[in-house]
Amino acid sequence: MRTDFLPYALPSIGEEEIAEVVDSLRSGWLTTGPKVQRLERDLAAYLGARHTLAVSSCTAALHIALTALGIGPGDEVIVPTMTFCSTANVVVHLGARPILVDVGPDFNVTAGAIEAALTPRTRAIVPVHYGGQPCDLDAIYRLATRHRLPVVQDAAHAVGAHYQGAKIGSDALAAPRSVVCFSFYAIKNMTTGEGGAIATAEDKLAEKMRLLTLHGMSRDAWKRYTGAGSWYYEVVLPGYKDNMTDIQAALGIHQLRKLDGFIEVRRRYARLYDDAFAALPEVETPPVRPGRSHVYHLYPIRLALDRLTIDRSQFIEELRARGIGSSVHFVPVHLHPFYASEFGYCPGDLPCAEDLYRRIISLPLYPAMTEDDVADVIQAVFDVVQRFRKTKEGVS
Ligand SMILES: Cc1ncc(COP(=O)(O)O)c(C=O)c1O
Repeated sequence: MRTDFLPYALPSIGEEEIAEVVDSLRSGWLTTGPKVQRLERDLAAYLGARHTLAVSSCTAALHIALTALGIGPGDEVIVPTMTFCSTANVVVHLGARPILVDVGPDFNVTAGAIEAALTPRTRAIVPVHYGGQPCDLDAIYRLATRHRLPVVQDAAHAVGAHYQGAKIGSDALAAPRSVVCFSFYAIKNMTTGEGGAIATAEDKLAEKMRLLTLHGMSRDAWKRYTGAGSWYYEVVLPGYKDNMTDIQAALGIHQLRKLDGFIEVRRRYARLYDDAFAALPEVETPPVRPGRSHVYHLYPIRLALDRLTIDRSQFIEELRARGIGSSVHFVPVHLHPFYASEFGYCPGDLPCAEDLYRRIISLPLYPAMTEDDVADVIQAVFDVVQRFRKTKEGVS
């Protein structure tokens, strides 16, 4: 049994990140400046994207993308229910209606569920690459093209992931009016503390989104305090205050360089979990679909509850008692009180997500863990399963 508690997640911050932040502090550029530009350039090169914009969060990225696409009152936007609340909240902020749809057993939204939810008021589709495994983009794009709908991908978990050999966010995977939104939140695969980014191949959309991130002020407003800038600016639309700061970008520049290495460690640890849990019929490992590379932001196991005498919440408590932190991703959005009361969703409406929700536990999986930590998690899961396994007589 561990003597110290293993947190569910931790960032990996090295001396390079610390030195770069100190350099920002000493330079006087505390807000958007040259390091934000550098991060945008580096990210564009890494993704193979024509345009990238660094912003204050993935939530801001989603909000800006939908705003730039003209989503507003009376519109419907299709969102999977198995996501973090912000994917749907931003739709509500715009006065539009989120149409929450079910997911498949791989946690990702299906094209069938999206198609069934289309109405004449549908204005956009927001698929989520759950846990870092890309969803069925080809099928979703086919649907979007047929119905002339923009696709705003919530890639909060999926920076560095590939679909059919191309990176999520790359121009190779772009479709008309498609936008991809990433999160650099503290425990994401790469972090800027809080932060996010937008990628798109569309010039006009990129220009509009850039204006929206900083008050709608005319081009390069951030330069107005430099020798190269001018005090004069014009507000061409009522934008937001969603810009990234140089202090955040200082972290991001180094995190991006380390990202592929981080992903490799995540994959290696995921294999260790997969191999170990193959011996436990009580624990289903996360499904991996062909043609996609998974970056394992999450490692959600699904409990076979009919084989256990405890439920998911009790399982989490038993892990905690053994020194292991864990989490649940996510409470399906339609079950949250606001969405139930405002839009009339009820338990039973989206059964696959609800079934998953009852059974899932996200185990710790991050590069700051050691292989011994991984072994401790495996040991704790085995221990809980063996203690609470159903036998013919009842408890084992
Ligand atoms: C699927 C999903 N979308 C969006 C977000 C929002 O990201 P951020 O915290 O960067 O706004 C998160 C954050 O956890 C998420 O998990």
